[in-house]
Amino acid sequence: MSTSPEPIGVIGTGYVGLVTAAGFAALGSDVWCVDIDAAKVQRLRRGEVPIYEPGLEEMLRDNAQRLHFSTEIGDALEHARLLFVAVGTPPTYSGDADLSAVHAVVDAIPAAHDRALVMKSTVPCGTGSSLQRVFGENGKQGLGYVSCPEFLKEGSAVHDFMHPDRVVVGDDGGWAGDAVVELYGPLGAPLVRTDVASAEMVKLASNAFLATKISFINEIANVCEETGADVVEVARGMGLDDRIGAKFLQAGIGFGGSCFPKDVDALKQLAGNSGYHFQLLTAVIEVNDLQKRRVIGKLQRHLGGLAGRRVALLGLAFKPNTDDMREASSLVLSARLQADGARVAVYDPVAEEQARALVSGVAFAASPLEALDGADAAVLVTEWQELVELDWNAVAAAMSGNLVVDGRNALDPEAVRAAGLIYEGIGRR
Ligand code: UDX
Repeated sequence: MSTSPEPIGVIGTGYVGLVTAAGFAALGSDVWCVDIDAAKVQRLRRGEVPIYEPGLEEMLRDNAQRLHFSTEIGDALEHARLLFVAVGTPPTYSGDADLSAVHAVVDAIPAAHDRALVMKSTVPCGTGSSLQRVFGENGKQGLGYVSCPEFLKEGSAVHDFMHPDRVVVGDDGGWAGDAVVELYGPLGAPLVRTDVASAEMVKLASNAFLATKISFINEIANVCEETGADVVEVARGMGLDDRIGAKFLQAGIGFGGSCFPKDVDALKQLAGNSGYHFQLLTAVIEVNDLQKRRVIGKLQRHLGGLAGRRVALLGLAFKPNTDDMREASSLVLSARLQADGARVAVYDPVAEEQARALVSGVAFAASPLEALDGADAAVLVTEWQELVELDWNAVAAAMSGNLVVDGRNALDPEAVRAAGLIYEGIGRR
């Protein structure tokens, strides 16, 4: 007879924490979730999911009997040996990660030889060893520590949890690392069991590499615009090379989100703190910043100046299938357009509530056609399915101008042109 997997605690109920909790509950563990936000805990207890993530609500509901929510870390400590830490680690003014939420968790845990922290939050390389030093200074040297970085993507986080490309477990070879490996066992993913520092670096290096791939293809797109090549064809030709791979070669108006901008910067700062100048990442960041602004140049060129022009931004979230607005390209675009005197209407099927707190001076529309009504130009900012499948004849009828800038190279140029509109992609012929 097989026994159920061991219970776990999850500290922090953001994207990573909730998906981790739901995932392990689905694999059979009792999960004790802790968050300092009492209102959020109340909502979760009522079965309400505070974030938009496809499949998460169902997964939490299906496993509700194994999921427990509390504001007290003691509740998790009472039931679980392993505490998965998934609290925020936002960047500080110096570009380092703010680890105060992680330190608060460490402070709240008593000295115990049979408890361990499993770090899911993205932290700079070296955090594990400095936390273990803090354990020692506070008489908590018995606490175990495991680095288990999370690679899930927003919008497909539930799928990513269940089908990871790899599981990385960094520890000193003790019981806690073994226990984490066992929990992930049923997923059958390749395992990288390594030391704490290397596990931390796998996460930062993976995100930095993917961001580099995006900035690289964006620069190729910009060169394509000068030379008459089409970046979609170029990316297809490159991606078929196994060594390169087709993923993350989608040129557009730059990457955003809670991870790439922060992690690329964190890795650059981390290198800088030890005296190493990570030149490549400096360029990755700069290319990404400029890529968001190049759209403005395209609009100016076609419209002959932006003052008094009406521009519709289609999509606001940093990518489709999420309501996350962190570092979204729409934030830069809406501010730049308004600074140049344009009147901006925006539409997003899910992120409007989040966007209202961050974007000012724009008209929020209830539908794409409402945003496009009377517009001189439209910019596809986020490739939501609903926006990719717009009826372009209806769009042409609603707009007063005829320019469509496809900021994600996600539209069918022929369909747009067939409606009498001008199509401008990123790096497209
Ligand atoms: C990323 C990593 O993929 C994930 O492994 C990590 O755990 C967290 O950070 P996420 O931020 O959810 O995940 O989104 P992702 O799908 O990776 O996209 C990030 C950004 O890059 C988006 O703004 C997206 O639009 C952009 N992107 C992605 C491109 O511009 N081109 C591409 O080819 C791929």
